[in-house]
Parts: sequence; structure tokens; C-alpha cells
Amino acid sequence: MTEPKKLFIKTYGCQMNVYDSERMAEALGGQGYVETKSPDDADMILLNTCHIREKAAEKVYSELGRFKGLKAEKPDLKIGVAGCVAQAEGEEIMRRQPMVDLVVGPQSYHRLPEMEAKTRDGEKALDTDFPEEDKFEKLKTRPKAKRGPTAFLTVQEGCDKFCAFCVVPYTRGAEVSRPADRIIREAQDLVERGVREITLLGQNVNAYHGAGPNGDMTLAGLIWELNKVDGLERIRFTTSHPNDMGDDLIEAHGTCEKLMPYLHLPVQSGSDKILKRMNRSHTAESYLRLIERIREARPDILMSGDFIVGFPEETEDDFQATLDLVEEVKYGYAYSFKYSTRPGTPAAERPQVKTHIADDRLQRLQAMITRHQREIQDAMVGRTVSVLFEKPGRQPGQMVGKSEYLHAVHVSDADVASGELRQVRITASGANSLAGKLL
Ligand code: SAH
Ligand code: SF4
Ligand code: F3S
Repeated sequence: MTEPKKLFIKTYGCQMNVYDSERMAEALGGQGYVETKSPDDADMILLNTCHIREKAAEKVYSELGRFKGLKAEKPDLKIGVAGCVAQAEGEEIMRRQPMVDLVVGPQSYHRLPEMEAKTRDGEKALDTDFPEEDKFEKLKTRPKAKRGPTAFLTVQEGCDKFCAFCVVPYTRGAEVSRPADRIIREAQDLVERGVREITLLGQNVNAYHGAGPNGDMTLAGLIWELNKVDGLERIRFTTSHPNDMGDDLIEAHGTCEKLMPYLHLPVQSGSDKILKRMNRSHTAESYLRLIERIREARPDILMSGDFIVGFPEETEDDFQATLDLVEEVKYGYAYSFKYSTRPGTPAAERPQVKTHIADDRLQRLQAMITRHQREIQDAMVGRTVSVLFEKPGRQPGQMVGKSEYLHAVHVSDADVASGELRQVRITASGANSLAGKLL
């Protein structure tokens, strides 16, 4: 038998890239590759890139530069670029870094095996098309390898919203939903391999409208179908857009037992003027009313969000409106970013906010978010939560898992295995995690 070839994949960006990297590794498994943790002994290096913020492409070029020495030592080494920078830059990547053998956009991963074969023949392989076929259906899993208790499952891709700051509609293309039966089959397969919790992924996951047995199915409909899968204990989804939060999805948060009480619902800004310029098509008020309705359905739901500060023409008053909104919602988690110019998007042409002002606002917003996060986490002390255990902790005998609210929970001297779901009484709250005792 020949030695298996080694594949090193480095993943940047969102969870969809994490899912895609797993699929690419499986697809190349069919070509005789096994994954390695180091680029040094790899026969193929694949960078799965993200284009969401500035200098993304420059970072990829400098990362590629670092592999020059390796390639010189090992001329058979293949170097590939996948993901959103591959989509945005295309052929330009091979022009600027001639040692790159393969460039593949997110919609073409099912063609990787042929592309890899082409590079073995000494040719370059480039594919950044937006084909019609379902790439995930073509990217079949080969061996039924055991998996950890949590997994991502992409159900929807692309975006038609065109927020004025964002590159995703350009790099991932138009919104497409996968058919429900394929998703359910994939979920069943994951459960057979040891998965207990599935996070459904999509750039606009709650806009999901995939073909079901009786016409198009909504995300809530899909969640109810997954709720029936034996052995699956928990369902999550991300990322949602406020405008696609249907009544049935809100209701499911109150009634669907496997759907976890956690919702990532980015708002970006609390100022209606800025929201309008962002092309978000919701207001701060409509967002707050929406959260009220979600909390009526599920009072203990933990909210999470995304914010951009220093969007073009954001004044101190606009920023204050963001702080007011955050104070009202009180997020359990929130991700805040300084606006980053993306050439080709409408906002790039608008008057920019000075860097030191944006930096200052980012700091103030993050201080508020951190305070709320800590308050919410500290309030868990004394409560009983359910924990899905994932792996051993740093101390001997310790196990770590996640609560239904996605807080990391450590339990010492825990006689539990990875994949077990147990009730835990929370006894302490640390910087980034909780500690508790098994009940
Ligand atoms: N589809 C998701 C988000 C995708 S990008 C949604 O609409 O919520 C993830 C986050 O990156 C966004 O929510 C936004 O907060 C941030 N982001 C996107 N483009 C950005 C830019 N040009 N500058 C700074 N942050 C940006
Ligand atoms: Fe980007 Fe807006 Fe689409 Fe989210 S909804 S991916 S922020 S364009
Ligand atoms: Fe980045 Fe592309 Fe995801 S730009 S955030 S990897 S969709």
C-alpha cells in the first residue's frame, strides 16, 4: 500500500468555512489524503479564506509567501486557495503567487477531486463558477468516521440582502436553500456517527425555504422535522436576519423541545439613520419589538448580536443610539467590529469616520457588552442547566461542555463521557466560563 498523502487545511472566517473545510477534507480523502496538523509534512496545503474585512487578500498573499521555502524544498507540494478570497480574487491569485496550483470558490468544492488530479498532472486548476448543482450532495462522505458530539450543517448559502458594507452577496452569491430531505439524511448520518447537537448554518439561515415534501419548507418546518430525529438532542441555527424571523420560528422557540434558547440576531446599529444607509430594511424599534415577541415565546432566551461601529457618517448621537439599544436588549454574547471598507460595496464610497473616533466607540461598546455578558453569566450561579459534555478540561478528571445557553461549563471529578447530556448545578462564574456540580 502507498503512504497516504497529507493534507493541511487552514480555515479562516465564519462557521460555514469550518463546515466547508470538513467537506473538502472528506472529498480529498477520496483522493488518498489524510489530514495533518502541520504544513511542514503536507503534500497539499489548502487555505480556506475569508474576505469579510479589509486586508483579507493581503493576509492571504503573505501567508502564501511563507510557504515558498516549503515548496522549493518539495516541488510536489500542491498549494490551493479556497473560500471567499478565492472567489473575489480568482485568477489574480495565480498571477501574484505563481506557486499556487489551485484556486477554488465556495460554490465549486465538489469539483475539488478533479481539480486535484489536474494539479498532479502539473496543470493549474481554477474554478470560481456559481454552478446550479448542489455541491454538498456531490461531496459525499466516504468513511463513516466517528465524530465529536457537536457538528455544523449548512442548510442555506448566499445572500440577497446587499447590506451596504458587506461582501458576502458577491463572494457567496445568491441565496440558495438545500432540499430538506438531504439535510435530514445528513443529520441522521451525523447522529449515527456520535453527534448530539447540530447547528444549522446559513449566511441568512432563517430565510431558509428549501424543497420539502409539500412544497417549500421554512426553517421552523425543517427544525420540527429534525426534532423527530432519534438521538439528536439539540438544535441551533445561525446567522439570522431580523426581517426573516417568521412567526413559526418565533413560536418554535417556545414549543420545540430540542431547539436551544439561544438566538444570534445581528442588528449592526441602533440608529435608524445608519440602519437605512446600511440598507438593513429594519429599524431599531422594529428590532426591539421583535425581541419582545421572541422573549414572550421563550422568556429565558439568551440573545446574541453583531455590531458595526464607525460606519460612514455615524455621529456620536448615532453611536449613542447603539449603546441605548444594547442597554435595552442586554446581550449574553455580542460581536462588535470597526467598519472596514470593502471596495465595490456602496458604503465604500461614503465619507468615512476617523479611525481614532471609531476605535474609541468600539472600546466603549465592547465595555458595555462585556459588562452585560458578565452579569448574565454570573446570574447563572445557583441555577441548574443541562450540559452536553464535549471534552476533558485542563485539570485531571475535569470535563467541559456547553449549557443550553452556550456557556462553557467545567465540572471537576466528573464521571461523564463526551456526548453525555447531564443536569449540572452552577456553583461559580469565571472570566469566560462557569463551574458546576453534576446532579
Ligand atoms: N449574514 C450575517 C452576517 C455575515 S458577516 C448577518 O447579516 O447578520 C458577519 C458580521 O461581520 C456582520 O454581522 C457584520 O457585523 C460584520 N461585517 C460584515 N461586513 C463588515 C465590514 N465591511 N466591516 C465591519 N464589519 C463587517
Ligand atoms: Fe452581509 Fe447583510 Fe447578507 Fe448578512 S444580510 S450576509 S450582513 S449582506
Ligand atoms: Fe468570511 Fe466568506 Fe464567511 S467572507 S465570514 S468566509 S461567508
